[in-house]
This record gives sequence, C-alpha cells and structure tokens, in this order.
Amino acid sequence: MNPELIQLSGNLSIVQQGVVHFPFIDSTNTYLLGKHSHLHGTIVLADYQSAGRGRRGKQWISPPESALLFSIYLRENIREIPIYAFTFLAAVGVFEGIARFVSPDSISLKWPNDVMIHHRKVCGILVQSRSSSGEPAVIVIGIGVNVSQPSSFFKDDLANACSILSATGIRLDRIELLSSIADALDVNLELLNRSGAEAIMTKWKRYCPYIGKKIAVTDDFNRYEGVFQNVSPTGALILRTETGDRTFHAAEVSIEKETLS
Ligand code: BTN
Repeated sequence: MNPELIQLSGNLSIVQQGVVHFPFIDSTNTYLLGKHSHLHGTIVLADYQSAGRGRRGKQWISPPESALLFSIYLRENIREIPIYAFTFLAAVGVFEGIARFVSPDSISLKWPNDVMIHHRKVCGILVQSRSSSGEPAVIVIGIGVNVSQPSSFFKDDLANACSILSATGIRLDRIELLSSIADALDVNLELLNRSGAEAIMTKWKRYCPYIGKKIAVTDDFNRYEGVFQNVSPTGALILRTETGDRTFHAAEVSIEKETLS
C-alpha cells in the first residue's frame, strides 16, 4: 500500500515535519532499516503492523488504529554518540510528550526504556542500528504507545500493561500525541547534540521513581531481587543484592509490590 504524507504541527529542527504514513506495514523499524536512504529525522507511522518487533526478540502486537506505532530514522551526528543514549532519549521524549496530556505524576520510566502509567507499561521502545564497516550508519528508534485499547485487552501476558485510555480515561488523537512526542524528541535530540548523553541520563533518572527501591531483574537465566542502585554511565542497571552488586546490560525489570505501595 502506498504511503501518504502527514504534516506535523509545531516547530521542529531535527525531526522532519512530514510523516510517512502507512495504513498497513510489516514493521516501521524493518522498513527504515532497509536498504533505502531517508532524510535524517524521518518518521514512519503505521496504523497496523503485521510483524511488529519488540525487545529481546519478542513480537509487538497491537490491534489496528489503537496504538501509536512509529519509528524515527537518524543518520547524522550518530557516530560520536553511544547507542544506549538514543534508548534513554526516546523514553525521555515519550514521557515528556505524554505529560502534555496526562498528569506527569502518574507517568514513570522503567529501565531501560519502558514508559509506564500508574506503574503499568504504556509504551515500548526498540532501538536498532544498521552498520557499515562496524560503525552504525543509521539508527532507528521504534516507539509503540498504547493509546485506546480498552482495559479488557490487557489480560494474561499483558496484565502489567495499559493504554492511555485504560489507565486514565483520556481518549487522545494519535496524530496529536505524535506531534507532542515528536516535539519532545526534537528538543531532546538537540540537547543530546549540545550537551551529550549525560544530560539525557540526568533527565531519565529524574523520571525514574524506582531508583533506590526494591525490584527484581530477570536475565536469560535467572531472577535476582535487590535494590535498584543506579544506572551506570553506559546505561547499565546496577542492582544491589545480598551477595553484592550486579550489573545488567540487557534484562527485564519487575517492580516489587512493596515498591508500588
Ligand atoms: C518493547 O518490546 O518494549 C519494544 C516495542 C517496540 C514496538 C515499536 S511499534 C513501532 C516500531 N516498529 C516495530 O516493529 N517495533 C517498534
């Protein structure tokens, strides 16, 4: 199906104002990681993905037109910036974009880049890169925000997830939400270029209420309980356990009940 072009409102300097909109696609990440080249800051949006990709090789499934599914393509100034910085930047951008509609007190970030409302996952982010001669030539940030799925959608495996509608009762227009998130991403991309990854990490930590609290971390082999000590300068999670500190570069975090109360 041929895409149409949607114009975003607002003043963007890095993110492109014109969004490539597909009613149907396999995955917006897969599309932008393909061999074609695009303008730095291009956004590709889909109403439905038949093969949406999630973190840790999982699928990302959303019913048609109920989630904001998009990816952004970056190719300039990326060699000097570590890839983890884009992961945290995306979470900060989504937090700030949603916070224009929803009380910021109800929104939080969970390591590495889940966005939560009332401690339930409302948005997942997948950052991927295409390399040439060992260096990233292109970075694609894929973002899926659950917007209007009803509460009944979030059961079984999805019991810890929510949509903006199911968590807050607020029904948002997906393009208005996209404009707000694109604007926040634009501001944070400029901040990253100007001040480096540290500035993004400082914001990320401000939006993460779980630091210093009890969490559980599951990697490919084990589950560990402990206190979320900090995020290392390279974006790794540091967990203080009874047997010492452990560092995780990729894992699933769950928030312990006592942390939520
Ligand atoms: C996660 O597992 O938490 C990450 C999910 C990322 C999903 C988004 S939806 C838009 C973009 N295209 C994809 O195929 N995946 C990302």
